[in-house]
Amino acid sequence: MLYGINCQACHGSDLRGGDMGGPNLLRSQVALTDQHGELIIPIIQGSRKAQGMPNIGLNDEDAGAVAAYVRSVIGTIGSQGTPPGQKKALNILVGDASRGQVYFAAHCASCHSATGDLKGIASAYPEPTELQALWLRGGAGNAQQRTTARKATVDVTTAPGKKVSGELIHIDDFLVTLKQSDETERTFLRKGAVPLVVVHDPMQAHRDMLPHYTDHDIHDLTAYLVTLK
Ligand code: HEC
Ligand code: HEC
Repeated sequence: MLYGINCQACHGSDLRGGDMGGPNLLRSQVALTDQHGELIIPIIQGSRKAQGMPNIGLNDEDAGAVAAYVRSVIGTIGSQGTPPGQKKALNILVGDASRGQVYFAAHCASCHSATGDLKGIASAYPEPTELQALWLRGGAGNAQQRTTARKATVDVTTAPGKKVSGELIHIDDFLVTLKQSDETERTFLRKGAVPLVVVHDPMQAHRDMLPHYTDHDIHDLTAYLVTLK
């Protein structure tokens, strides 16, 4: 079992911490908020090397499986101190809302506004754990379906200086389809690097930011976002 081989010595067979000094994962904000590996995988792959957790050297798939195992144990035995089967609501509102507001202004306000698109987000997601998971992921995962959501766009360069751009409709190794601003769709055959295809995924920013948040940032931001009723 991957957890037993790679993690147990430091984090313990029951996740409560082991002989070699890994922290209790049942109390870990990261482990408790991880949805599908997005927070745990980077740690397994070395993002906390400076803090004493080595790069375990697992590929995405194996690291994802270990992350799922960690979540499943947390789901079964609950957070530290809570007997099995009696999960009490986890209080994640431990941050400082005013620091969260400052962080928001610096890192989020280029794309979002507390009085615009995120107005009322805390009413739409009254459960703080849900709200936290939502902003960490950057939405419920259906942005492409929502009419108001920013969509991914693509630039297709067929010849030097000849670029066609539009909303990304479909892409695979052989075809790319886009919708131009006049609503007409165009499809291009792809052969390796020809034509040059550059996708601009608005959600990339959310993925890129994940490894950079500290626990404090996460707590503070959530504390701030719950005020956006
Ligand atoms: C050699 C010991 C060691 C091994 C092996 C190890 N860890 Fe860790 N782990 C640590 C230490 C030390 C930290 C604390 C790092 C920090 O303070 O940021 C940590 C932190 C973490 C955290 C973040 C906890 C938090 O809330 O900050 C997670 C999640 C985690 N480890 C999961 C794993 C998983 C999953 C594995 C196996 C694939 C693993 N670790 C293997 C030592 C280890
Ligand atoms: C580069 C642009 C960009 C940055 C920076 C950014 N986001 Fe986002 N965010 C998006 C996009 C795109 C979506 C998808 C939904 C949409 O298009 O409105 C999204 C979705 C969200 C959602 C879900 C909204 C909903 O209604 O489902 C939340 C909450 C959120 N972001 C919070 C944040 C926070 C907090 C930060 C700063 C830490 C941040 N975002 C930084 C682009 C960005």
